[in-house]
Amino acid sequence: MRAKIPFILNDTSVVAEMQPGMVLANYIRYEARLTGTKIGCREGDCGACTVLVGELGGSADSDEIVYRNVNSCLMPIGNAAGCHVVTIEGVDLDRPNAIQEAFVEEGATQCGFCTPGFIVSLVGHCLERECRDPLAAISGNICRCTGYKSIERAATRVVEHLKHRGGDLVEAEIVPAWFASIPERLRELKLAHPACEEVRRKDAVCVGGGTDLYVQRPDELEPGCLQFNLARAELRGIRCDGNTVILGASVTMEEVSRSTELIALFPDLPRYAKLIASQAIRNMATLAGNIANASPIGDMTIFFLALDSSLTLRSGDQRRTVALREFFRGYKDTALEPDEEIESVEFAVPENGDLFSFEKVSKRTCLDIASVNTAMSCRVQDGVIAQASVSAGGVAPIPLYLEKTSAFLVAKMLDAATVREAADIADGEIAPISDVRGSAAYKRLLFRQLFYAHFIVHCEGVIEWGELL
Ligand code: FES
Ligand code: FES
Repeated sequence: MRAKIPFILNDTSVVAEMQPGMVLANYIRYEARLTGTKIGCREGDCGACTVLVGELGGSADSDEIVYRNVNSCLMPIGNAAGCHVVTIEGVDLDRPNAIQEAFVEEGATQCGFCTPGFIVSLVGHCLERECRDPLAAISGNICRCTGYKSIERAATRVVEHLKHRGGDLVEAEIVPAWFASIPERLRELKLAHPACEEVRRKDAVCVGGGTDLYVQRPDELEPGCLQFNLARAELRGIRCDGNTVILGASVTMEEVSRSTELIALFPDLPRYAKLIASQAIRNMATLAGNIANASPIGDMTIFFLALDSSLTLRSGDQRRTVALREFFRGYKDTALEPDEEIESVEFAVPENGDLFSFEKVSKRTCLDIASVNTAMSCRVQDGVIAQASVSAGGVAPIPLYLEKTSAFLVAKMLDAATVREAADIADGEIAPISDVRGSAAYKRLLFRQLFYAHFIVHCEGVIEWGELL
């Protein structure tokens, strides 16, 4: 069923009359005929299809637009409603912009297939209020023929260039002058096309970022009845309510990894994020998507299981709370009723001094699906474990909360003997199978090593590796 989807594509306001499940890359290339955006893998792996999606942030009269780089091959056009979409053509200055100049100067392009994706990701990096690591911005962009050193040099050159030009992107010849009119135009667009109140239809497929759904079943989704959750304001945001942290269902993984509140509680969060996916995927993938997907190796699921989180599930005005550890019933089977959706994820604020650890091993260190992942939260008082929650992924049909192992650890001395015995109990709780990510025996061994790593890394000087062998 077609719908009218209003957004701004580069400097043109459009109301696309399309099936809202169509992926944005197809619209851009085959309807708008903007062929600078390339399509390679259609799985979020190569970054050739990268575009920027900008949304008005902050208050209603704020001029701030938050831009994020995304893989348009996995983004339904329905998620573009009310946004500013920027393709490589949208950063054209009638001559190469400063980033394109840097690529030429550093010899960072050969066949050029990947280049628009790199350029767009770097424009997105420059549009961020605080410039972080430019290499993080291009973590999802793959080049098959140039070699990354020249691309890294070009990225560094861009950052230096921007510093010298005082951070103004128009002055720095990175974006065209019409970018300045976009906040006003987006506000007008929202007034002209107010978002409809979402009514959850039983037969509608809930789509967050679409990063897994559009890899698994794109043909089914394009004409499907979909409910788009990513932009729903009531499902966004991270807040503290007393002793509880509440994350909206549509908070993205990137928002989790950049949240100052969460980083204060889990300082290693940015490092974990790098293990999980590219920035472009993290910009789209939502927390509820990761959980509702029920993948046995969902990284965010494993993270929040170890915090013994709970979920608020909503159907109309009815809400109920389910412990995350009880949410998974079997392989890809959850406690969600057909007319329910995840509204939020909640967990208790850890106490000062609590330990938290997330470990993951995959075939590639970064941007890959876990072979095994695990997390642990632990409170130690006077050398005795006062509280422990351990989760494990890739070792059962569902993401596991290790009930027996967690219970065993409580009230035990924190020493090597306790950890060894706990690992034996965990070995009885897991049931890995052999598959493309490794044999069952390998995964058992891997889980044990990662379980030990929780303690070795965080209890340095208390438990040594040699004592656990
Ligand atoms: Fe490869 Fe989209 S085409 S990430
Ligand atoms: Fe050819 Fe990157 S320049 S793939």
